[in-house]
Amino acid sequence: MSNIWSEFGFRGNPFSTAPIKANAEGKKLLKGRDKELRLLRMKLTSSDLHTTIEGQNGVGKTSLVGIAAFTLYEEFLDDPENKPAFIPVDHIFQISATENIEAFKEKFLLRMVSFISSLEWLDETRFPVGKLEDLRRWSNDPIIKSFNGGLSIAGFGANASTTNSVNGSSAFSGAGLEASLREILNIMFPAGCSGGFVCLLDNMELLDTSLTARKVLEDLRDSVLSFPGIKWVLCGARGIIRSVASTNRLQGKLATPIELAPLADNDVGDVIEARTSILKTKVDAYIPIASNGFKFVYDISNHNLRIALKFCEDYCLWCAFEGKKPQNEEEKNELLKHWLTSEAEKNLADTQSITRTGWSVFQVISQRPEGISPTGDYGEFGYDSPQALQPHLRSLEQAALIESTIDDSDRRRKTITLTPRGWLIDYYNKTKQN
Ligand SMILES: Nc1ncnc2c1ncn2[C@@H]1O[C@H](COP(=O)(O)OP(=O)(O)O)[C@@H](O)[C@H]1O
Ligand SMILES: [Mg+2]
Repeated sequence: MSNIWSEFGFRGNPFSTAPIKANAEGKKLLKGRDKELRLLRMKLTSSDLHTTIEGQNGVGKTSLVGIAAFTLYEEFLDDPENKPAFIPVDHIFQISATENIEAFKEKFLLRMVSFISSLEWLDETRFPVGKLEDLRRWSNDPIIKSFNGGLSIAGFGANASTTNSVNGSSAFSGAGLEASLREILNIMFPAGCSGGFVCLLDNMELLDTSLTARKVLEDLRDSVLSFPGIKWVLCGARGIIRSVASTNRLQGKLATPIELAPLADNDVGDVIEARTSILKTKVDAYIPIASNGFKFVYDISNHNLRIALKFCEDYCLWCAFEGKKPQNEEEKNELLKHWLTSEAEKNLADTQSITRTGWSVFQVISQRPEGISPTGDYGEFGYDSPQALQPHLRSLEQAALIESTIDDSDRRRKTITLTPRGWLIDYYNKTKQN
């Protein structure tokens, strides 16, 4: 036995946790986001501000941005004379707290030059092409070539590498390149409504605190965030985006965030149905999980699609390995519950150090899926000071049952939520109670 999916009758993994690709197939895979797509497309096409999206991890931010940009791109290619040219750039930009701002800017320039040079249709449309020759010359520069491992048109999600330092950047001076790029962008996009390259700056929560995020964005404000015809979409979790978008200095640059909520209950089953029907290679393709089983796991996972997909993949691998092949919905759901219980019990073995009081703290946290603050809400835990809570939080954290964001000013735990392991064990505890 090797690839279980091909044995089940699929050409790919229906539980892949990768963001949805920005292509025609991706459009069919994105479920339950009609309203959000409309809103995001409206913001991209109607505002000169950079778009921002706040939403918990695994909720579907990256996927949504990819598809929104792709649909605009499709419409443009379909009718280039009349439609604004929105072009998704095939790269997920990320920035870390240790990143040098100049290095990030350089990387952005190099990416853009390679990408624009690779757009084969560019000569034939309404853009004057004289300047493009400059860019294409740049893109043949050995340094740029070595940096760019080959780009293809349109498709976020191709790689989500973090950005550290550019190879050979010391030998590279970006000034002339930046001027050429700005000139071309000005020709292509004389006004905000003529379109733009859509660039995704993803996972801003990697910056850890909103103070750092604000600082980084303020540093980028007059460079990377001020190119004509570059429409950034900034995505992040844990309140980071909400926080940066509301500062004075950035308010003139960043739009009010779109708050992306978890997929509605009714749409969750469709996610797996779309994936299996698109990926199946034979009529009797098989998976050991039913649509409502997926929904069940989604609920256990605190409505985090990525975690739900991961649990289901593990379950399918286990079924294949153990030679289990439940047939109807009832059998599938029963086996799924059995697996969830035994997984939880395995994980419980790593939590021996948690005391009875520790578990009661855990229970309070589990009742607040949006997160709870030890400093503000310690009363809810039945403590009269936040300090008394600390040892329990520490042991829960050490057992990987909870995770927390850190406060900007005093580096203390701010918002606490359960980890995937925590949600699994919470499910287990609840089934044992009943
Ligand atoms: N609307 C949707 N319909 C179907 N699958 C989705 C949808 N949104 C996200 N997914 C899937 O859920 C997982 C997490 O999505 P992603 O966009 O990476 O989330 P985020 O960027 O918010 O962390 C991915 O595997 C993605 O394919
Ligand atoms: Mg993402």
